[in-house]
Amino acid sequence: MAFPDEIPTLLEGVERALEAALPAERREPGVLHEAMRYTVLGGGKRLRPLLAHAAASAVGVRDDDAVRAVAVSVELVHCYSLVHDDLPCMDDDDLRRGRPTVHRAWDEATAVLVGDALQARAFGVLAEAGVPAATVVLLAEAAGSLGMAGGQAMDLAFEHALPDRDELERMFRLKTGALIAAAVRMPATLDENVSSESEAALGDYADAIGLAFQIVDDLLDIEGSTEQLGKPAGSDAEQGKATWPGRFGVEAARARVDELEERAAGALARLPGDTRGLAWLARRLLHRVS
Ligand code: IPE
Ligand code: IPE
Ligand code: MG
Ligand code: MG
Ligand code: MG
Repeated sequence: MAFPDEIPTLLEGVERALEAALPAERREPGVLHEAMRYTVLGGGKRLRPLLAHAAASAVGVRDDDAVRAVAVSVELVHCYSLVHDDLPCMDDDDLRRGRPTVHRAWDEATAVLVGDALQARAFGVLAEAGVPAATVVLLAEAAGSLGMAGGQAMDLAFEHALPDRDELERMFRLKTGALIAAAVRMPATLDENVSSESEAALGDYADAIGLAFQIVDDLLDIEGSTEQLGKPAGSDAEQGKATWPGRFGVEAARARVDELEERAAGALARLPGDTRGLAWLARRLLHRVS
């Protein structure tokens, strides 16, 4: 895969597969299916699906239906996490991907159920593709209390608190890094010929960009505009969130992102396949404006 030239084609494939993974609105209960489709098909950068495809290339795993299922499953869990993250009991945000959040466009009960149903659908997609159990286990861990959900619990516990750098970064690795790492690591589990050295290098790359991704997200909350972000700028300060730049300063946050970007590049050098996609995505993720 030659990034970035192939991105439009890859993105089209991802969109089509996401669409196909969701029940039609005419199926009962129509309101729930409408809200699920609104959530998933309403934009988003699709960085996690692109990471899955690029990671497959980096370890020489054939880009087939199983890789596509991995890409779709991680994006479905990610979309669910956003819907719950925006709820009044979590971050209480009204805008997501430039449109009203699900609990604003419908109601809180619908938003809870959309999340429930999308998470179930994600595992259904993996099972339908017949992926190995090890692939499913990675997503289960990344989504659960040792991953995203656990990180979200820590995020809430740290509101109006002063976690030290290690605590803050542990929270980031879980709430955001875990799903990014799942996208990067799952494709390697589809092929038993991938070496443990390659798996370790993918893990190091993912760890660095996952952590840096949340630091950049925190910077954008301070420096970006609501219009540009498609979600409310300044939300973290309003909610009393513990953020990297909030705790240690904008300049130190940028320096930390640079350091992690270098670490990610170092990990790519240890991979046997075509790493251009992962290299391009690291830049795309860490130098984004939305
Ligand atoms: C936002 O993720 C939530 C975080 C984990 C920081 P993205 O910035 O990837 O959101 P979309 O998918 O493009 O909307
Ligand atoms: C997101 O963290 C982590 C998730 C699991 C969704 P944020 O709360 O900072 O994400 P945004 O800024 O709302 O997208
Ligand atoms: Mg949050
Ligand atoms: Mg939020
Ligand atoms: Mg944020």
